Amino acid sequence: MNAWTMERRMYTLTLLSLVLSGVGALTVNIPKKLYEFARGDNITLPCTFTLKNPPTEKTLYIISWSGEVEGSDTETLILTYYSHLGITDVTKHNEGRVSLDFDVAKRKADLKITSITKRDNKEFECRVQVPGDDEGKPSDTTRLVVLVAPSTPICEIQGKTEYGKNINLTCVSEEGMPTPIYSWKSQDVRNMPRVADPRTTDKGGVLSLYNISKDASGYYICTSSNKIRSATCNITLSVMPPSMNIGSTAEIIAGAVAALVSFIRYLLLLLPEGEG
Ligand SMILES: *[C@@H]1O[C@H](CO)[C@@H](O)[C@H](O)[C@H]1NC(C)=O
Ligand SMILES: *[C@@H]1O[C@H](CO)[C@@H](O)[C@H](O)[C@H]1NC(C)=O
Ligand SMILES: *[C@@H]1O[C@H](CO)[C@@H](O)[C@H](O)[C@H]1NC(C)=O
Repeated sequence: MNAWTMERRMYTLTLLSLVLSGVGALTVNIPKKLYEFARGDNITLPCTFTLKNPPTEKTLYIISWSGEVEGSDTETLILTYYSHLGITDVTKHNEGRVSLDFDVAKRKADLKITSITKRDNKEFECRVQVPGDDEGKPSDTTRLVVLVAPSTPICEIQGKTEYGKNINLTCVSEEGMPTPIYSWKSQDVRNMPRVADPRTTDKGGVLSLYNISKDASGYYICTSSNKIRSATCNITLSVMPPSMNIGSTAEIIAGAVAALVSFIRYLLLLLPEGEG
C-alpha cells in the first residue's frame, strides 16, 4: 500500500467516524485550545454545539461556563443560562463583567468578558445540557492566556564605576507576559557605536562590563520587549579614575561652597545702595 492509498483510507475512516459520532448527538466545540488576548481587552470565547434533533420551541437548554485556575483543581462557575426561564445566573464575583451570547439558530453559546485581567488566566469550560440529548460530548475546554505589555524597566548600575573595575548594568520590568526579553545598546560619549570588550556579556537584562576604562563611559539603553510591546530605560555611565572618585566628592563640596559665597556676594552687590 503506498502512502497515497494509506492517506485516502485514513481520510475515509475519519470521515466515517465523524458521520457516526458527530451527527445525532449533542456535541460541544470550542474551536481553539488556546486563546491569547491583552489585558484590558473585551473578549469573546466562542462555543458552538450540534444537537441530536432539530430544536423546537419546547427544547430546553442549560448552558454553563466555568473556569479553573491552572493546577488549582477547583472549578468555579461563571454563569448558567436556563432557556425555559430566560435568565442568566451570573456568579457574584463575575457580575457586570461577563455575559452569554446564546443563539440557538446559530448553535452558539459564546462567553463575553469585558476588560480581562491577569485573574482570567484560566481553563474555561463550556457545557450544554439538553434533556434527552446527552450521549455526545456535552462540554469542551480552552485556555485563556492574558498577555501583559512589559512595564517600563528599571535600569541600574551595580559596582564601582572606576577604571579597571567590573560592573553590571541591570534592567528589569516588573510586569510582562510573556516574560520580557531584554537587550542593551550603547553609544560612547561621541554618540558612536562602541567597540565592545570581548568579555562583555548581555544576558537576561544584565550587561556585564569588565575592566572598564573611560571608553566605557556613555549612554546605555535597555529595551524590554515581548510580543505585545516594548519599553525602554536608559542610564549614563561615567567611568572615573579611582582617586578622582574620592577627590570628586570633596571637589563638589568645595565647588558648592565657592558658588554659594559668590552668590551671596552677587546678592550683596544687588542691594539697593543708591537708596540708602
Ligand atoms: C470594553 O467595553 C466597555 C463597555 O462595555 C468599554 O467602555 C471599553 O472601552 C471597552 N474596552 C475596549 C478595550 O474595547
Ligand atoms: C555581575 O553579575 C554577575 C552574574 O550575575 C555576578 O557574578 C557578578 O558578581 C556581578 N558583578 C557585580 C559587580 O555586581
Ligand atoms: C585592564 O585594562 C588595562 C588597559 O585599559 C590593561 O592595561 C590591563 O591589563 C587590563 N587588565 C586586565 C586584568 O585585563
